[in-house]
Amino acid sequence: MSDPLLMTDAAPATPAPEKTAKAHLPDAARVTAVTHWTDRLFSFRVERPRSLRFRSGEFVMIGLLDDRGKPLLRAYSIASPSWDEELEFYSIKVPDGPLTSRLQHIKVGDDIILRPKPVGTLVHDALLPGKRLWLLATGTGIAPFASLMRDPETYEKFDQVIMMHTCREVAELEYGRQLVEGLQDDPLIGEMVAGKLLYYPTTTREPFERMGRVTDNLASGKVFADLGLPPMDKATDRAMVCGSLAFNVDVKAILEGFGLTEGANSDPREYVVEKAFVGDGI
Ligand SMILES: Cc1cc2nc3c(=O)[nH]c(=O)nc-3n(C[C@H](O)[C@H](O)[C@H](O)COP(=O)(O)OP(=O)(O)OC[C@H]3O[C@@H](n4cnc5c(N)ncnc54)[C@H](O)[C@@H]3O)c2cc1C
Ligand SMILES: NC(=O)c1ccc[n+]([C@@H]2O[C@H](COP(=O)([O-])OP(=O)(O)OC[C@H]3O[C@@H](n4cnc5c(N)ncnc54)[C@H](OP(=O)(O)O)[C@@H]3O)[C@@H](O)[C@H]2O)c1
Repeated sequence: MSDPLLMTDAAPATPAPEKTAKAHLPDAARVTAVTHWTDRLFSFRVERPRSLRFRSGEFVMIGLLDDRGKPLLRAYSIASPSWDEELEFYSIKVPDGPLTSRLQHIKVGDDIILRPKPVGTLVHDALLPGKRLWLLATGTGIAPFASLMRDPETYEKFDQVIMMHTCREVAELEYGRQLVEGLQDDPLIGEMVAGKLLYYPTTTREPFERMGRVTDNLASGKVFADLGLPPMDKATDRAMVCGSLAFNVDVKAILEGFGLTEGANSDPREYVVEKAFVGDGI
């Protein structure tokens, strides 16, 4: 059921009229839907270029033309899974951000630039086989996991998938909450997900049913106790991490404490990390 509080700008039944901008934009992709979740967060979908292949969890460069007609590009995780006919992105709105101060105003029928060269480390190929996959994110760092949580390969490879997502406030969890809820009823993947995907959202600055930083809930053992799971073990547990630089550094130390080591595409191991953004904060 759609939430009346969310401003969703979905594609009309008839295609939007052809826009002249498409002819001028390099690697143009047309916007098909926009949803504003809070005054700082929105998601949008674009048509997928037919030739674009990617692994769930990867990121691409997207953007708009600046005032001088030059491409203004930023890295964005593809939030949709590799089988999806469209591409989804989940974005911050940085008030004075060169790209997002403009990008937040896109509408259905507009074009964005999408450079079709996906890359990234938050992919199954960079992890050794295991039993449990921990997806650890703050803020928009959930975007690559929105892709991986919707990919059947994730449930073929792991018996349990634990999505820990922490934000300052409750409203910032809503994109992830609706995504996880929708997965249980999904005709394609619902059966695979049932009982396997454990969702552990927390806040840090607004009262919520569960609170606390990902790091604290791992280090204290609270998350294991709450979910009835054993502590992480190098033999069985794998992790993917995506948040601010400080978050990534702190989570890495905890994972290393459990004996896990960092992997890469060329050297698969027990955990992988990617920055959700560059910088210390807005
Ligand atoms: C590998 C990678 C993947 C990324 N994927 C995403 C994604 O899926 N969604 C997304 O919104 N952003 C993502 N980013 C960040 C994105 O590239 C841009 O920084 C963001 O869109 C803001 O662009 P801007 O030009 O408006 O501001 P910028 O000049 O790029 O950033 C200004 C400042 O805003 C803060 N900031 C930027 N992005 C974020 C963020 N996502 N969350 C909190 N603070 C932020 C930082 O302090 C930064 O210094 C990713 C970055 C990297 C490196
Ligand atoms: N979220 C908002 O409502 C809001 C509003 C306006 C402006 N901003 C600005 O936007 C920028 C990004 O904000 P954000 O909320 O997206 O990202 P953030 O500051 O990285 O915080 C996101 C979540 O990660 C947690 N966290 C931060 N560092 C951590 C670490 N080292 N280890 C474990 N957990 C950690 C935070 O907990 P803690 O709360 O304990 O730090 C918070 O729950 C900030 O500079 C902020 O000032 C945010």
